Amino acid sequence: MSLQDAYNRKITYLRISVTDRCNLRCRYCVPRQALKRLPHNEILTYEEIVRLVKIAAQIGFKKIRLTGGEPLVRRNIVYLIEQINNISTIQKLCLTTNGTLLREFASDLYRAGLRHINISLDTLSPQKYAYITGVDAFSQTWAGIKKAIEVGFHPIKINVVLIKGFNDNEIIDLANLSFDYPLYIRFIEYMPLMSTGINFEQSFISTDEVKERLKKIGKLEKVPSSALDGPAQRYKFRGSLGEVGFISALSHHFCPNCNRLRLTSDGQLRPCLFSDQEWDLKTPLRQGASNTTLKAIIEDAITHKPKSHGYVKFVIHRPMLKIGG
Ligand code: GTP
Ligand code: 5AD
Ligand code: SF4
Repeated sequence: MSLQDAYNRKITYLRISVTDRCNLRCRYCVPRQALKRLPHNEILTYEEIVRLVKIAAQIGFKKIRLTGGEPLVRRNIVYLIEQINNISTIQKLCLTTNGTLLREFASDLYRAGLRHINISLDTLSPQKYAYITGVDAFSQTWAGIKKAIEVGFHPIKINVVLIKGFNDNEIIDLANLSFDYPLYIRFIEYMPLMSTGINFEQSFISTDEVKERLKKIGKLEKVPSSALDGPAQRYKFRGSLGEVGFISALSHHFCPNCNRLRLTSDGQLRPCLFSDQEWDLKTPLRQGASNTTLKAIIEDAITHKPKSHGYVKFVIHRPMLKIGG
């Protein structure tokens, strides 16, 4: 049995940010002003996270995604994957990573039971990679992606945030990767959050424009989505190994099908990416709350999940870095 919210949406997907730290500083994710890192004792321990996942699983959550910051910079993350993988009613355990540390972690993550992995890669140019992420690590990330393929992860999704004048001239090269590699290339509409230094009006490219440009290399065939999918619309070019997807948070917002809640690394439950309303789980957890009490808090957050983000201009007070996308 899964819980439904007030708008009959089944809530089955929990995104957990395991750290607010990251070894990159992507311009669309990290605000320009200096950010205070959370002190260590504010971050949920692995034991606390596992306890919450077990409670969530009892309520009907079936899919867990670990995000960050960058989840692979948190010590002993493989242990957390193992623990969550042991919870039998969790059907899908996923990780979103920037890929820089994947070459060294891929085998251990796979052994711990992880299969689904999403990797950010906005460009195939090492210079542009260094510009957008602030770190000269393209070859490291590309090696991480290749290692993930070699180890056998499936699916491997590549997240491309599109920014006009920066990477829109690479749409075709990036989509072409799906012919040669078993990669799911997902073009993401840039979401203007906090003061990221990227001018929205000048930078935004809609999914419709991307689809139009892709006509040059073939006909996109729709791939049906399955119950636990995230927000991407899925397509495939005939004869390709991978897929192409579109995440259109602004032009075709997917709120009516939203199936997710977010848990921040400091233990706050967010029913919507674009709403600052949070439900505190950390304080009751640390004050000895029973499973019943914690369950009631999660259920209350689900009940109050907003109908839609009603986009005007997103003004939220946690930067993307601290929510985990
Ligand atoms: P799959 O489960 O593999 O489909 O992945 P996902 O798209 O759910 O997760 P991922 O971490 O790869 O995020 C890809 C993009 O989707 C990021 O830009 C996220 O910010 C965005 N995204 C995920 N969930 C939501 C959401 O609820 N609302 C909005 N606006 N964007 C979202
Ligand atoms: N708009 C769209 N996607 C974003 N991400 C981070 N910031 C933004 C933004 N402003 C994406 C990253 C990563 C995922 C977790 O969130 O590309 O793949
Ligand atoms: Fe780090 Fe991902 Fe944000 Fe880039 S998008 S700064 S890799 S958390």
